Amino acid sequence: MKVVVAFLALYVTIALGVKEELFKKCHENGFCHRNRHYGSHILEAHDWPYRINSTSLKTSAETSHIWLEILKTISHDKEIVLDLQLSLLNDDNLRVQVNERRSNDLKGVGSLTTHRFNGTGNWVLVDSVTEGKFKSIDASLKEKLGLKYGKYHSAELTYYPLTLKVYYKNQLQMTVNDKKFFNLEHYRTMEDNDMNMLPFELDFDMFKDSFKDSSKDTIPFGPESIGLDFTFNGYQHVYGIPEHADSLSLRDTTNSEPYRLFNIDLFEYEVGSTMPMYGAIPFLLAVKPTKVASGLFWLNSGDTFVDIDKTHLKGVSTHWMSENGIIDFIILVKESPEAINKAYGELSGFTPLPQLFALGYHQCRWNYNDQEDVLQVHENMDKYQIPYDTIWLDIEYADSKKYFTWNKKTFPDPRKMMLELDRTGRNLVIIVDPHFKTGYFVSNELMKQDLCVKDNENKILKAHCWPGESVYIDSLNPKATEYLTSKYQMSSKNTFMGGDDITNVHLWNDMNEPSVFDGPETTFFKDTIHYGRWEHRSIHNMYGMSYHNATFHALTNRLAQSSRNRPFVLTRSFFAGSQRTAAMWTGDNMSKWEYLKASIPMNMNQGIAGMPFSGSDVGGFFGNPSKELLTRWYQTGIWYAFFRAHAHIDSRRREPWIAGEPYTSIIRNAIRLRYRLLPTIYTTMQRTSVEGVPFMRPLFYSYPGNLDTYEIENEFYLGNSGLLIAPVLEEGVKEIIIVLPNVKEIYYDYTNGKMSLESYYGKSQIIKQVTLEDIPMFLEGGSIITEKQRYRRSSKLMINDPYTLIIAPNHDQGKASGQLYIDDYETYDYQNGKSAMIEFEASDKGISSTLIRGEGEEFKVTNHVEKVIVLNFTKQYDAKPLKQVVVNKQQVVEFEIVHNNHLVIKMPNTPMSQNWTIEYEYVESSSLHDEL
Ligand code: GLC
Repeated sequence: MKVVVAFLALYVTIALGVKEELFKKCHENGFCHRNRHYGSHILEAHDWPYRINSTSLKTSAETSHIWLEILKTISHDKEIVLDLQLSLLNDDNLRVQVNERRSNDLKGVGSLTTHRFNGTGNWVLVDSVTEGKFKSIDASLKEKLGLKYGKYHSAELTYYPLTLKVYYKNQLQMTVNDKKFFNLEHYRTMEDNDMNMLPFELDFDMFKDSFKDSSKDTIPFGPESIGLDFTFNGYQHVYGIPEHADSLSLRDTTNSEPYRLFNIDLFEYEVGSTMPMYGAIPFLLAVKPTKVASGLFWLNSGDTFVDIDKTHLKGVSTHWMSENGIIDFIILVKESPEAINKAYGELSGFTPLPQLFALGYHQCRWNYNDQEDVLQVHENMDKYQIPYDTIWLDIEYADSKKYFTWNKKTFPDPRKMMLELDRTGRNLVIIVDPHFKTGYFVSNELMKQDLCVKDNENKILKAHCWPGESVYIDSLNPKATEYLTSKYQMSSKNTFMGGDDITNVHLWNDMNEPSVFDGPETTFFKDTIHYGRWEHRSIHNMYGMSYHNATFHALTNRLAQSSRNRPFVLTRSFFAGSQRTAAMWTGDNMSKWEYLKASIPMNMNQGIAGMPFSGSDVGGFFGNPSKELLTRWYQTGIWYAFFRAHAHIDSRRREPWIAGEPYTSIIRNAIRLRYRLLPTIYTTMQRTSVEGVPFMRPLFYSYPGNLDTYEIENEFYLGNSGLLIAPVLEEGVKEIIIVLPNVKEIYYDYTNGKMSLESYYGKSQIIKQVTLEDIPMFLEGGSIITEKQRYRRSSKLMINDPYTLIIAPNHDQGKASGQLYIDDYETYDYQNGKSAMIEFEASDKGISSTLIRGEGEEFKVTNHVEKVIVLNFTKQYDAKPLKQVVVNKQQVVEFEIVHNNHLVIKMPNTPMSQNWTIEYEYVESSSLHDEL
């Protein structure tokens, strides 16, 4: 018996880990292999195959578009014509598109739409994107075109060899087709393929797929890949293109696997890998110390690989390869990474401000067994005085995993449970995946209404996922959104959502890559057919987004008439634009230290790529974390924008009270710290929702001048609050090294959110002793944050609580400033001006608070400020002792100097709804003298 157990244990350990052989590497993926080959052989070409026909130039009357022909020379008597379009978008972003002229009548493609898919931009770009105007278009030379746009931008398009150079303030930032990797495999049939090949091209897997699992792919259009290289001149670091479990600054891939963007259910993923994961955002950011940053947005939703070459002397060079679709990209060059985020948000949308509860603590596991279990966990949270806002139900709540039903045995009265949660401001999130088990009303309705994804013979596709044989909703069809809307409709008859007075239930979309257990690379065959007669190949990376968009619209409709109408949707799969309708999490991680560590660069890259409402499963999904790891994970997880504990069905229970003391208390303290900082966290999210900046903010965002910050991935700022966090990410450590990014500023030690005697100045790095209790945190000089310091059971119950201000004077002048955003936390009324932004300013003379109301309906601020803490007061404003503190020029108030150093002011009932001031009166030097 013992032998068997030992063998099983060994088997389980060996079996854990990604099954790499299930997923294609570049050399097994026709188009990637061909494009890499093309790149390494193009130098052998006697002539570059692509040139611009200078006589084809056309411009639009309003000078926002330029059209040209690109000629692809195959042989002396064969040329293919491609259409190039340059457009200027608002905000000085340059868009380039290249398409192939295709006939409507192609052999062997059945009823499929014949032209190349060019709809990615329509799904991704927001309606408000408008066109700009080129300042000048200089076509005076016959070998090139000169463009000027915006205040600082210019570009030069050379016709042969084909290159586009983009300048900012006359300095070269990006060279497109620098290495001549431009490639567009034009349409041809297998029979005439020989006549369409360039001499240095490879014909690997052009008409068949030799990868075992996908060998049935019919590849109806033959080879249609695109490839292009971009050199970021003078840049050493590039970021973004999530999702990968890899470093913050992207690595060189010249002798290894490129980063792949192909949404898959990467079961038991490994860290330190360029393998694809659940989501893809083809957006890359390059930053350098000279007050400039560049962004590249590759608008393609097909299978994509990106090679990064850091060996290039001119700067980082990148090679983008997609399986099909058109060449479509936008170049952004701005003065800072933040400006790039803003511009990217203007293009693809921002994360809408969520309800406050969504920023609280989420308690999840696969699964809470039944209704009693849910309510027991709920009660225990209060018993152990741990605040939380949301409890989650995974797939087992449904009868045989048939979404839109409940298992009546285990959840006899979901409505009662929902109402009970609501009593203390708690919410419920339930999972609804895009696969629907065959043989019940939902799948029957979908089939009847023609809303299912089809196989390559245009028959309804049936494949396997959690419930067994299933159909998949074709959420690319607008009618699918209508269907889901009817399913989530607010009505007394809709018992699935608890009835027409239930507004605390929100949704989780999982497995929407889509995950297909019996499909190649765990997903659909690429020749699967969608609405519009498009191959799945063209839209693969957008399918997940189409599903969570539909869910969001349905939930928006459901909640529209309620007083809490901001929906919350969590998705596992995502694409550029997903940030508009969903939060994401990084999927099935493991209860291991390296996954805790990797979660920080992963979430930072999400923010860089414009989707900052993200998080990772606290505790790790697979396995059982040690008590220490679980504790450290909570201490890190409280800084994710989306803070949720989750665990696999086979893992042991691990709600915060299970570990016992001292762990439970330490975890409680961490969660309470999150709640204490909710005012700062909500303000951070509000800034993110209008500016698109990362929530977990990389150090180089604040100090791009300091190259030493470019690879720091174990520390981050909480947005632009000035809070710098360096969580402990390794087992058993007693001290950690912390980088302080600005030697000219003070860092006040604020470990665990507590005032301390320590502050640092002039040091680029410190060593800090830590215990299990410690979450190393610092407030950077110059910042002011707000807290609500009372324990409450949920964020909703904190709404009227008073504020405490923490002020961290800067080094030079002892000044600081900060902001606090307030609204009703639940509705969209803030869009009509029902909100308040409070600006705080501090100096050695005192403090002022100025309330700026949103324009429109008046928002009533009911809170008070109860305490103001000025860190290092006596050291900062050294010379003179403080005599008295006067509030609003009239009231002398109590104060205390603690640790001989920090000033604590007890505020009288001071409403935040009015502007207020604090003035310091110091003992004059003459009276000082008198006293002596
Ligand atoms: C997937 C999800 C995981 C969930 C499970 C069951 O593995 O990533 O979070 O618990 O499915 O629904």
